[in-house]
Amino acid sequence: MNKEIVLSGIRPTGFLHLGNYFGAMRNYIKMQEDYNCYFFVANWHSLTTHPDTKELKNAVRRVIAENIACGLNTDKAVLYVQSDVPEIAELYLYLNMLAYKGELEKTTTFKDKARSQPDNVNAGLLTYPVLQAADILIHRAVKVPVGKDQEQNLEMARNFAQRFNHRYGDIFPMPFAFNYGNELVKILSLDGNGKMSKSENQLATLYLADDDDTIRKKILKAKTDSGPTETNAIKPDYIQNLFTLMSFASSEDTVQKFEEDFNKSSSGNCIIRYGDMKKQLAEDMINFIKPIREKAADLQQNTDLLNKIIKQGADKARDSASQTLQQVRKAVLG
Ligand code: ADP
Ligand code: TRP
Repeated sequence: MNKEIVLSGIRPTGFLHLGNYFGAMRNYIKMQEDYNCYFFVANWHSLTTHPDTKELKNAVRRVIAENIACGLNTDKAVLYVQSDVPEIAELYLYLNMLAYKGELEKTTTFKDKARSQPDNVNAGLLTYPVLQAADILIHRAVKVPVGKDQEQNLEMARNFAQRFNHRYGDIFPMPFAFNYGNELVKILSLDGNGKMSKSENQLATLYLADDDDTIRKKILKAKTDSGPTETNAIKPDYIQNLFTLMSFASSEDTVQKFEEDFNKSSSGNCIIRYGDMKKQLAEDMINFIKPIREKAADLQQNTDLLNKIIKQGADKARDSASQTLQQVRKAVLG
């Protein structure tokens, strides 16, 4: 009866995009059926890189609304805002005593971020993995759906948990990165440069909040080439990306038609028309994104309802967090 605990967080540093949807949220929605799930908006983590909070408040509410619009059911999963759970901050304090400056300085994400913001190498940035460990351990989560770039942070969370258990008593189970199914899709930027991302080329990123015209324009501008030069050619990654998107948004028949056109094409006999493919993909993607965008927008406008949802999430998260914290305090302070 006791389901395993799944937890993941997303930083509200921008608009959610299709990479977030297909790489993360789509899995959350499946997981809520099988696990005891906690999903949260990591707004404290955002402060390490985005100290100006003018946009943050709206972004937090948008991320909550978009998660619900994508199918997250708050009767099944706990959806909350990190800063609504002060227990996390107290656990962060205890874990900070078990985290060493040397190991924190060595993490890739710290080094990357320190390089990209040399004027603001703050202590929060250094202890980012400690706060992340507190996020996870406060609910005793064991499965953490995250991308590859987060492996190191999870290893550190296990180290802190182990040190804590060793010194104060066995309280925390070990958390591990977790992918549902196993293959993790990676959605590339439509310009073919790297992955779709909140901070990269915004004209090549499809956001869940994009209107129909914007979606159409972005897809029609997506990078293609003059077509395959042999039959059954290997697809370049930016073409594969269009097929991947199509496999999510279009009907099987449509995907099959363009697959066949691609495979039958060769030099001098290029059957596949990327222009047509993009037109079709644009319309199908509009149909895919539109209901999510509209539901998220409605919810953001319904302030009372959204406040209620956020409050309910906070109550449930605090309920679980305070139980862990009680044990932690007892173990550390007696
Ligand atoms: P971003 O790079 O846009 O800031 P985050 O690093 O906040 O996104 O990632 C949030 C979640 O979305 C993570 O689980 C990450 O693996 C997933 N994700 C982000 N971008 C992509 C992408 N282009 N393709 C697949 N998954 C992605
Ligand atoms: N560091 C994660 C990221 O950049 C976000 C995050 C914060 C997180 N706390 C977490 C993810 C706890 C999983 C579990 O994507």
